[in-house]
Amino acid sequence: MVAMDLSTWHDLRARDPRRLVLGSAQWGMTYGIANRDGAPDDAELARLLARAHAAGVHTIDTARAYGESERRIGRALAGADLRVWRVLTKLGPDVHEPGLDVATTLERTTASLAASRNALGLDVLPLVLLHRFAHRHACGGRLWRFLLAEREAGRIDTLGVSAATPEEAWAALEDPDVSAIQVATSLLDLRLHRQGFFPRARELGRTIYVRSVFLQGVAHLEPATLPGFLAPLRESIEQVRAVAARLGVPSRALYLAFVRGLPGVQPVLGCEREAQLAELLADWTSEAVDAASLTPLVEVLPTHDAALVDPSRWPTAASNAAAAGPPNQTAAAGVATIPR
Ligand SMILES: NC(=O)c1ccc[n+]([C@@H]2O[C@H](COP(=O)([O-])OP(=O)(O)OC[C@H]3O[C@@H](n4cnc5c(N)ncnc54)[C@H](OP(=O)(O)O)[C@@H]3O)[C@@H](O)[C@H]2O)c1
Repeated sequence: MVAMDLSTWHDLRARDPRRLVLGSAQWGMTYGIANRDGAPDDAELARLLARAHAAGVHTIDTARAYGESERRIGRALAGADLRVWRVLTKLGPDVHEPGLDVATTLERTTASLAASRNALGLDVLPLVLLHRFAHRHACGGRLWRFLLAEREAGRIDTLGVSAATPEEAWAALEDPDVSAIQVATSLLDLRLHRQGFFPRARELGRTIYVRSVFLQGVAHLEPATLPGFLAPLRESIEQVRAVAARLGVPSRALYLAFVRGLPGVQPVLGCEREAQLAELLADWTSEAVDAASLTPLVEVLPTHDAALVDPSRWPTAASNAAAAGPPNQTAAAGVATIPR
């Protein structure tokens, strides 16, 4: 098993807020299994961005598929120094589906990129991720070659993929054309960590963004209120809480310390309120949790099945997907809320 390494590697840099990325699915649609408050209004979003800016957090993760998210970011950053802010987006998940011809696929891809540029008010997109890993090989690779040409033409800086599964993450890692990968990992989802993914990614010099640090908010739910299909996570959530109580810190500090200790990754943190971000920033820079206190917990936590830790596999996802079309992590989040 790969030892949990909260080495002194750049320990100081480990707590650097510039590693953090703001997740913005919550800003463009009702998102999150525990979300009671819905998306932030414009004033709250402005406060959240001002808090981030003051802390040195200048990267935002968005996607064409996140409803109004890109447009709200474009409006909120209009007038801001875009040399400071870096907005990462994802191609529309519907630019291609099996059997769709090349011309239509490239038409939809062009339209998705144009819509992102327009909504964000950017001529050059700093990073474009495929929201569907399968698109990497769509139309015999024509879609990807089209994106490479967009990069050569200077209309996209960097290309990458958002992986929905560990298998996709590894396939993307071994692909020299893919510079950046977004993956899901947390104390509740140790699959990639146990497979040695992060040290390997560092070896290969890939940029790794980590999402679902709180498993879409499940980590914050009272264990007794977990929906039936997530009940097998209860013991793990309680184990994390017990260690947090012993250390006198909120359990979210342990979830954050875990990803902070992964070499070179950039955590994508979802929050709807400035107050939430303030708490996460305090946890991130806090010295209260270190390797010695976290490693024993990581070693005893189980590797949970995909059905439990992959939101696109949650039952609500299935019923919503039937309603909303092709399944994806984001689909699950579109509507599901469970009272805390
Ligand atoms: N396929 C993809 O590419 C993909 C898929 C999913 C997400 N993402 C990206 O990742 C971002 C984060 O989403 P995620 O699903 O990974 O969520 P997450 O970061 O695991 O959890 C975010 C949720 O945690 C809760 N939270 C945050 N700060 C808190 C605090 N201080 N105290 C208590 N609760 C707090 C909020 O939930 P409540 O307030 O609702 O309780 C928030 O919605 C998204 O915005 C998106 O940018 C990408």
